[in-house]
Amino acid sequence: MKALEPAFRDLQAFFLSLEPPKYPFPIDADKAARGEAVFQTTCVRCHGTYGPDGKYPNKIVPLDEIGTDPARSQGLSDRLVAHYNKTWLGAEYPVDTKRVGYQAPPLDGIWATAPYLHNGSVPTLHALLDSSSRPPRFTRPPSTDFAHYDQAHLGWKFTEVSADDLSSTARRSPFQAKFIVDTARFGMSNGGHTFGDALSEEERMDLIEYLKTL
Ligand code: HEC
Repeated sequence: MKALEPAFRDLQAFFLSLEPPKYPFPIDADKAARGEAVFQTTCVRCHGTYGPDGKYPNKIVPLDEIGTDPARSQGLSDRLVAHYNKTWLGAEYPVDTKRVGYQAPPLDGIWATAPYLHNGSVPTLHALLDSSSRPPRFTRPPSTDFAHYDQAHLGWKFTEVSADDLSSTARRSPFQAKFIVDTARFGMSNGGHTFGDALSEEERMDLIEYLKTL
């Protein structure tokens, strides 16, 4: 496998050359500038800075601090970890099973990657930054046409699904059921990452304007 490493370096160079797609709708520059200041004080320590001199801290945040659904981070079996740690890559970058948590991901092109969190349990950036507004169940759009894009909250337009709707949907076709995200399911909790909760609504909207520029 080590023989393949040059190819992986080429792939890495290719991935690093990719640019995120630009936000396709208008951006209010003054609002975005105010939002950048909010980002500096509340988000940079984990998500880093952006632009030509951007620095990415490559930070893994422990579960008790991030508070998002634990299932995926705990999902590596002992057997898998033991196997991986014996490979050449594992020898250089061993998995430390005591350091369980999630990586704070880079936010380049974040406007385009809803739904959010590792399990896709939060439909919009606005809901991510105001945890009290996160819907327990919601629908995915039928397509990623811009007609389905929510320019105010950044993400796909969704409808909340009530518990009653959910049980009637369960009786519908598996194809239709696939369009519903239900955060009560194993591994799908939408809790945690509450770092936007203390912001005023104005600060949150400014921050969202800035996130459009990444
Ligand atoms: C203590 C570190 C920390 C702070 C502070 C923090 N984040 Fe995060 N953020 C994370 C981690 C870790 C994740 C991944 C969590 C997961 O997927 O379970 C994440 C996920 C996200 C995501 C979802 C990424 C995706 O691709 O789904 C967005 C957007 C985000 N953060 C924006 C922000 C903004 C904006 C702020 C400032 C208000 C902020 N974060 C503050 C650590 C942090």
